[in-house]
Amino acid sequence: MCGIVGYVGRSNDSTALEVVMEGLARLEYRGYDSAGVALVDGDHVETRKKSGKLANLTAELEAHPLAGSTTAIGHTRWATHGGPTDANAHPHRGGRDGKLALIHNGIIENFHALRQGLLADGVEFSSETDTEVVAHLVAAAYDERGDLTEAMRAVVADLEGAFTLLAIHADQPGVVVGARRNSPLVVGLGDDANYLGSDVAAFIGYTRHALELAQDQIVTITPDGATVINFDGTPAEGTAYEVTWDAAAAEKGGYATFMEKEIHDQPHAVADTLLGRTDASGRLVLDELRISEEQLEAVDRITIVACGTAAYAGMVAKYAIEHWTRIPVEVALAHEFRYCDPIVSERTLVVSISQSGETMDTLMAVKHARSLGALTISVCNTHGSTIPRESDAVLYTHAGPEIAVASTKAFLAQITACYVLGLYLAQLRGGSFADDAQSVMKELGEVPAKIETLLGRMDRVKEIARFMADTRAVLFLGRHVGYPIALEGALKLKELAYIHAEGFAAGELKHGPIALIEPGQPVFVIVPSPTAEHGLHGKVVSNIQEIRARGARTLVIAEEGDESVVPFADEVISVPATSQLLAPLLTVVPLQVFALWLSTAKGLDVDQPRNLAKSVTVE
Ligand code: F6R
Repeated sequence: MCGIVGYVGRSNDSTALEVVMEGLARLEYRGYDSAGVALVDGDHVETRKKSGKLANLTAELEAHPLAGSTTAIGHTRWATHGGPTDANAHPHRGGRDGKLALIHNGIIENFHALRQGLLADGVEFSSETDTEVVAHLVAAAYDERGDLTEAMRAVVADLEGAFTLLAIHADQPGVVVGARRNSPLVVGLGDDANYLGSDVAAFIGYTRHALELAQDQIVTITPDGATVINFDGTPAEGTAYEVTWDAAAAEKGGYATFMEKEIHDQPHAVADTLLGRTDASGRLVLDELRISEEQLEAVDRITIVACGTAAYAGMVAKYAIEHWTRIPVEVALAHEFRYCDPIVSERTLVVSISQSGETMDTLMAVKHARSLGALTISVCNTHGSTIPRESDAVLYTHAGPEIAVASTKAFLAQITACYVLGLYLAQLRGGSFADDAQSVMKELGEVPAKIETLLGRMDRVKEIARFMADTRAVLFLGRHVGYPIALEGALKLKELAYIHAEGFAAGELKHGPIALIEPGQPVFVIVPSPTAEHGLHGKVVSNIQEIRARGARTLVIAEEGDESVVPFADEVISVPATSQLLAPLLTVVPLQVFALWLSTAKGLDVDQPRNLAKSVTVE
């Protein structure tokens, strides 16, 4: 939530503002209620800020241009304290002379008490935000200490909550100071210029050299470099890394929306996540895990913690990991996990799944699990993010940057990484599925080409979506691994097309939800392969007949060549054949495409749906 950019260079020209605005454009997916910039202009700081999308700020800058500067910060907001108004937009100025500007991501939990103290001292506020409180505090601390880094250090000691803060001061041009606690901040290292960003997308157009910061650190950038200290003032060093993707990966690549592009990136997301995970003999090798085989062999229980789409990836993983390893797997919504008195021991493996690596609920669940002695592995798509850093080990997904707010390619990559983890555990434990690990990996290797084929057949799904632009409610049914896909199909439709959508386990239908079926009610049904175990296919075909008999309009996703569904389907969407456990990598694709085009048909903003933000960094 909230995108943050900082820049400092040598030229006193328009570069600073251009870099910050470009960074904000790349970060707008993180929050888009309002946006603003501040830069050092001679003996003062100048700000421009505007509620609404970034385009409003661009127009404001055209109407009221800013002077050249070496030093600038910018912010795109997802409102927490105070509505999305011009006044509440960041940056906020601090101090009576207004020489300081500050931006913030996160929530300052003790802001009320701090604000009362400032009010008692006669400070006047121009916004309702917790951020402005910090701006005044840092400005006051600067007046005492005459150094922005020291001022920031003095103030963060009194702050509670999660925050990334960036500040500039007119009396210290050529310096941007950042601080982070439980909220993202990365440093970009350039030539004669340095950068700060909520994530590397902020500066990917300028440098791929990045520096990861740990918790509770302050970084000071100048054109000459970056200096890191801990909140207690002791010197520290960031961890340097190279970003593996370039600016083109964070652009639309000829598609109308990021979401469409990312749906088409999916064959690569799966293939890249499989890369380098087997040796020449086909055995799985996960050296990157840095957890000993003995520790993993001792695991007797797995808990997956995640939110939203990532939690549905966890639900798919549960079926596969339990089947292959016979270890009991539980999937917990991360925000519930901490409060349900979880049963965790040192033999529990807690696997967190997060695209951003910054979801606060998931981060807190991981910290809680660690405090209870669990072994923690993060399945994550973002290098340099907080959750991998706070976990014992990380298994990176390689989906590349996901910019559309609705998750698509990260979901497929998460499922793929969980399969890899499950197969690795099966191989380690040497049970009956250990020998199968290699053949499943081989079959997984064939999935990217199947997704490609499927994507080539989506014209009819697009058409169906267009016809259904006025639909008020859609139901989704699935069984076994099809059940989380039904949930994911419903979530995509809710968030993108603002349509009431529900996913059910098809077997649950007769226990209540069938009452929702009335003539014309559209229902997507995800049908397992006719080869699925326990006669599951026949049972789902019966479910289709039951709802059809009550007037439902059935949109059936079935394996190609499965003729048995044809008599009961208003539409059949065929997906290439694959084994039952791997089918989610295919069956979800038409549902993503459907949500994308229905949202488009309604004229909605596909990449930035209302009320949402890409990375939920508040609890
Ligand atoms: C839905 C969606 C969200 C995220 C959830 C977790 O399309 O994107 O439900 O999956 O907020 O986010 P990460 O994976 O970043 O932890």
